[in-house]
Amino acid sequence: MGSPRVCRASAPAKVILFGEHFVVEGVPAIAAAVSLYTTAVARQPGEGGGVRVCSEGYGCREVWPSKPSSMSQLYHALEKLACTAKLRPALVEVSSEIPVGAGLGSSAAFAAAVLAAYTCYLGLELSREQLSELVYEAERVVHGKPSGIDNTTIVHGGFILFEKGKGFHRLEAKLRGSKLVIAFSVVARSPGEAVRRVLERKKRLGRLGDDLYELAKRLVLEALAALRAGDPVRLGELMDVNHGLLNALGVSTPVIEELVYAARRAGALGAKLTGAGLGGSIIALAWEDDVDKVVKALSSKAASVYVTELGVPGVTWTVLSGC
Ligand code: MEV
Repeated sequence: MGSPRVCRASAPAKVILFGEHFVVEGVPAIAAAVSLYTTAVARQPGEGGGVRVCSEGYGCREVWPSKPSSMSQLYHALEKLACTAKLRPALVEVSSEIPVGAGLGSSAAFAAAVLAAYTCYLGLELSREQLSELVYEAERVVHGKPSGIDNTTIVHGGFILFEKGKGFHRLEAKLRGSKLVIAFSVVARSPGEAVRRVLERKKRLGRLGDDLYELAKRLVLEALAALRAGDPVRLGELMDVNHGLLNALGVSTPVIEELVYAARRAGALGAKLTGAGLGGSIIALAWEDDVDKVVKALSSKAASVYVTELGVPGVTWTVLSGC
């Protein structure tokens, strides 16, 4: 018998460029995978009969076969996997450069990295679609009723046009001569809470709420055309409009507003919050020549600022040793 496999997986963060929250109610949204990563290594454990996950932030937990009090999202995903595959004990070690509570998909990247490394260790050949479904199972525990945009973007990578319940299309996006800056403010309230609040406001607004969602749909179509045409000026302006709509839904905060305006004052073509809001991060689009000014303006106000590569590949996994 050969030696057991050791596998490593790496999952990117995501940003939503247009359409967060609106996507929960069926409006299309545009997202991209970004070059901040969570990495997991799965191997045979020295002791213990379950699947044990260790991470810098959360410590060590056995996540299967018994249900843990934390990281229970992994238990639910593994229970689903156990319907079709025989699970074996493993030790999965995780490290991450994606800030938690930043609206950058840290929970989906965590689940994607762990599940990709673990299924590789088991020798399973899952399709990306199957992996994305397992990550969605984990996300349901963390977020309540997620649209599926985070797991889809993180597992498949690239630029994605996503429609809840209908799937996704890969986009050929051009940001010609411009770059996206991400600034993380403070840890956001839970995405589940933000989604609940937005849906309650939409209900209270009645017809006016429906009109906002209709406007968001038109906005995404305009953004799609601007992305395809490679028109950063138009994209920036549309990001500002998207931020206005998110503000109308009640998910911006004074800190987020401060960052958005600091980016715009420093010459950004547009800026908006990204993800569920109520804290988290903003994204700002800027001409390459203006990026340093935007980063400088945000650095004094944000917890961290990133200029990342957009549209990177989705989760990857590889066998490090064994067979
Ligand atoms: C969270 O990244 C994006 C939201 O639209 C929620 C979701 O789509 O599940 C706020």
